[in-house]
Amino acid sequence: MKLPRRFFQPLAAGAPAPFRELPVKLERMIHFVPPHNEKVRARVPELAATVDVVLGNLEDAVPIDQKEAARKGFVAMARATDFAASGTGLWTRINALNSPWILDDLFEIVAEVGDKLDVVMVPKVEGPWDIHYIDQLLAQLEARHGVTKPILVHAILETAEGVANVDAIASASPRMHGMSLGPADLAASRGMKTTRVGGGHPDYRVIADPTSDGAARASAQQDLWHYTIARMVDACMANGLKAFYGPFGDFSDGEACEAQFRNAFLMGCAGAWTLHPNQVAIAKRVFAPDPAEVAFAVRIVEAMPDGTGAVMLDGKMQDDATWKQAKVIVDLAKLVAE
Ligand code: GLV
Ligand code: MG
Repeated sequence: MKLPRRFFQPLAAGAPAPFRELPVKLERMIHFVPPHNEKVRARVPELAATVDVVLGNLEDAVPIDQKEAARKGFVAMARATDFAASGTGLWTRINALNSPWILDDLFEIVAEVGDKLDVVMVPKVEGPWDIHYIDQLLAQLEARHGVTKPILVHAILETAEGVANVDAIASASPRMHGMSLGPADLAASRGMKTTRVGGGHPDYRVIADPTSDGAARASAQQDLWHYTIARMVDACMANGLKAFYGPFGDFSDGEACEAQFRNAFLMGCAGAWTLHPNQVAIAKRVFAPDPAEVAFAVRIVEAMPDGTGAVMLDGKMQDDATWKQAKVIVDLAKLVAE
């Protein structure tokens, strides 16, 4: 089955220039919860009303002796809340393909609550073969259990091999929903010398050339994740998928979290993972366009009703291409306002 994901509009005379439509669902944050923790689970109904996506995590951070409890907790959690009623997405992160738990994760969850599950997040995806395997398993399980709404697949980009194969992963199946940067596992896989979950490093900097007066040389910290996010966004957008910043592990540093999320947003990401309640407010703030930017974008759209031609606004040239940029921002602002 082909899911309707690509948006090509024929360019009829007088019609607006074609542009890729924004995803219609707001997914500013994928909020992680540990389903084996009964206390956290009890708060999920309330939480579901405040976030765009709730994800029950079965993989890393769940101790081995709690894997089964996490799976059963997820089933209980899915049954206890009507996520669809509030338009909140229900996702799970299953265990990795090379783990002993993945079959039980998928078999039990699709059998028990497959009709409530929107997206399966698959960790440590290395190539399209991993997606093909999950795709076929899901198709078989959906058929067996009468699940009629296709369960979508979201890959975590967190191995060097996965980054090398990012385009093939993005186009591996019409079930693909999107991809997230997994900075912790990716750092390890690449042999990066860090001990952090996302964010920068004070020693990753570029130093300015020496000056003739011998003044102290300025230096600036660089973004460790720019390259990967750029590759991920291109692969996703070329295939009609959504790209996400993954986790930011220092819950005490809201400023740095916000800066990383904002860079990802500006580069084309739709959202980020939130692991702590403080990060939900950050994601809501970041993954919505700036009001001043929206106001200017509205002026561009209004100045070029058919999306073509060239006009000057505040001394800045606008044309078909800036109209498309403006439309991205205006459409997102409308979605946030809904
Ligand atoms: C997420 O899973 C990460 O490894 O950063
Ligand atoms: Mg990981």
